[in-house]
Amino acid sequence: MIVTPLVGKQVDSYRLADARLNIWDGSVRSSKTIVSLLKWMEFVRQAPPGPLLMVGKTERTLRRNIIDVLVEMLGDKRCHLVAGTGELFLLGRKVYIVGANDERAQEKIRGLSLVGAYCDEVSTLPESFFVMLLTRLSIAGARLVGTTNPDGPQHWLKANYLDRARLWLDYDGQLHRETDDTLNLARFSFQLKDNPNLSAEYVADVSSEFTGLWHKRLILGQWVLAEGVIYESWDPARHVVQELPAITQWLCIALDYGTTNPFHALAIGLGTDQRLYVGHEWRWDSKKQRGSLTDAEYSERLRAWEAGLGITPSYRIVDPSAASFRVQLHRDGWNSTLADNEVVDGIRDVASLFATGRLLVHAGCKELIKEIPGYAWDPDASEKGEDKPLKVNDHGCDALRYGIRTTRNVWHGRLAPPNKAA
Ligand SMILES: Nc1ncnc2c1ncn2[C@@H]1O[C@H](COP(=O)(O)OP(=O)(O)OP(=O)(O)O)[C@@H](O)[C@H]1O
Ligand SMILES: [Mg+2]
Repeated sequence: MIVTPLVGKQVDSYRLADARLNIWDGSVRSSKTIVSLLKWMEFVRQAPPGPLLMVGKTERTLRRNIIDVLVEMLGDKRCHLVAGTGELFLLGRKVYIVGANDERAQEKIRGLSLVGAYCDEVSTLPESFFVMLLTRLSIAGARLVGTTNPDGPQHWLKANYLDRARLWLDYDGQLHRETDDTLNLARFSFQLKDNPNLSAEYVADVSSEFTGLWHKRLILGQWVLAEGVIYESWDPARHVVQELPAITQWLCIALDYGTTNPFHALAIGLGTDQRLYVGHEWRWDSKKQRGSLTDAEYSERLRAWEAGLGITPSYRIVDPSAASFRVQLHRDGWNSTLADNEVVDGIRDVASLFATGRLLVHAGCKELIKEIPGYAWDPDASEKGEDKPLKVNDHGCDALRYGIRTTRNVWHGRLAPPNKAA
């Protein structure tokens, strides 16, 4: 990878990032990672002796988002993972690699004295981990460098840290310096326009992939509340079809398991027109129908439904809370896949596919079609800085995000370009 010389706000932020904490926030693809990594490399070259750390939500995302990029920038002589040790060798220094995706993650760094830390996607780390990390950066001259996309305005990172920055280079390129009640923190807010390495067509494509909340956060870079309807671009006139095209691959049957709550299964396929289709649904609502079913009965009816459709899905995706049901399915000869239950990631994928007209629903999926317009953010959770959907009438919507998110690697790259499909 050839890194082109930094320009404009990229240069300004690079020069100004000499606080104890240095955080780039803002739009996707706005060059936060590249600029922050250049700064991190500068720091690593001249850092005082002592341990260094790089953190991501998981080791896997850290590798994909950051370490692969560093290897591309530096070559594998100057940057390589030491197999099996959780250590990276970077510019002659040893760097610990840590994934921090739950409250227990802070245990991994308890007791360390660090001289430097790089954090990928800071807002996705648990606050407890971040607080512990700051206490660990105890060697004189210690620095933290990190990036984040915006979340809600009450998110801990915004309310407790970014809002108290001593120095802020805002979206318009204005530099603010505050003295009262501040932290030794420099904040750099980036938008797509700050990255000259993107073509106008690419910028138009990513901008069209996000509507509503996601547009405000991921394109405009605003820290705004998740409120109201989740799938804002949903429009039955645009998204409901009376006929399915030829399906090149049935990606999955995805299901949300319920006993007192409804059980909802969806069949999702990829059409020859390079769009995704929810082609069929099967639902059992023990309150409305003739009582509850046992796991064995569910399994039998589900298999009969699939056989009746005459399809062979690549995956059968079951929600993580249904462990006993997966055992039953296995006994009955069905290997199931555990659903990816990253709620907000799944919702973002579905929202983006609806926004670009690349996910459509067959009119026969009546219950799903009823649920989608009422699928809404939980206002109490938003007030606490957390994005969560309200847990009412969300069974088909849950099955939908499980199916879409878990098969992402299968459909990604096989759909019509966003601006062509809408
Ligand atoms: N100076 C540069 N030289 C070459 N390419 C660059 C440069 N700066 C940014 N890019 C390219 O722009 C794209 C987006 O940059 P980057 O990954 O840093 O964005 P980001 O703000 O971290 O995005 P996200 O929020 O999606 O993680 C990347 O493909 C990167 O290679
Ligand atoms: Mg990034």
